[in-house]
Amino acid sequence: MFNLFKKNVDVSAMLSLLKTDMHSHLIPGIDDGSPDMDTSMALISGLQQLGYKKFITSPHIMWDMYKNERDTILRKADEVREELRRRNINVEFHAAAEYFMDDYFSKLIKSGAPLLTIKDNWVLVEFSFISQPFDLKQNLFDLQIKGYKPVIAHPERYSYFHSKKERVHELYEQGCLLQVNLLSLSGYYGKPVQEMAKYLLKNNLVTLFGTDLHHFRHLESLHDKEIFRIVKEEVESGNIVNAEL
Ligand SMILES: [Fe+2]
Repeated sequence: MFNLFKKNVDVSAMLSLLKTDMHSHLIPGIDDGSPDMDTSMALISGLQQLGYKKFITSPHIMWDMYKNERDTILRKADEVREELRRRNINVEFHAAAEYFMDDYFSKLIKSGAPLLTIKDNWVLVEFSFISQPFDLKQNLFDLQIKGYKPVIAHPERYSYFHSKKERVHELYEQGCLLQVNLLSLSGYYGKPVQEMAKYLLKNNLVTLFGTDLHHFRHLESLHDKEIFRIVKEEVESGNIVNAEL
């Protein structure tokens, strides 16, 4: 078991200003996040210790890898909620999804089937890390036409945006919300990602923070004073709406 206090940082309730985490992989056994219920419980307890009170977890729906469907996710979320109650872990737990923008997603949108939302009509989406999908703007527009508001997961992690920052401004102007990963702020994913995250914050383009928590290494790395400092500053600036979810 890893040591929560390795960095000698008092982490108690460090992220309580955010109250709600809306990006994580806490449902056991359905994606590359938590593998089993005990791990889910330990991860959720660890996040609770950091100050989170509410979770809208977001399993991957990525048809080549994780063929998750709405009903499966909701049913498994019920099981997690039940186990939390059994163990007296007092947090609110809900599920949405992190939709990978592939052909399956396009078909899903066209079919009119209801999507899992973070709140109201907000849908968390991700896309290829390798190259910008040529039809990205059109696909986001199709989603908007159906009445949804796209929430772009970790825009700072798409390296092809780093030298073309105007593309992210365009997504924002198109009406997308941007969600930055907390771990990007401490350099967990490398310096260019960290710089991009700070650029997005500086330009007031960020509406949400997410842990994107998959495993204990992520949890441990969240125990970081720099993350806390930036979160506090950004929440005070009034741009970040996690606490209203
Ligand atoms: Fe994720």
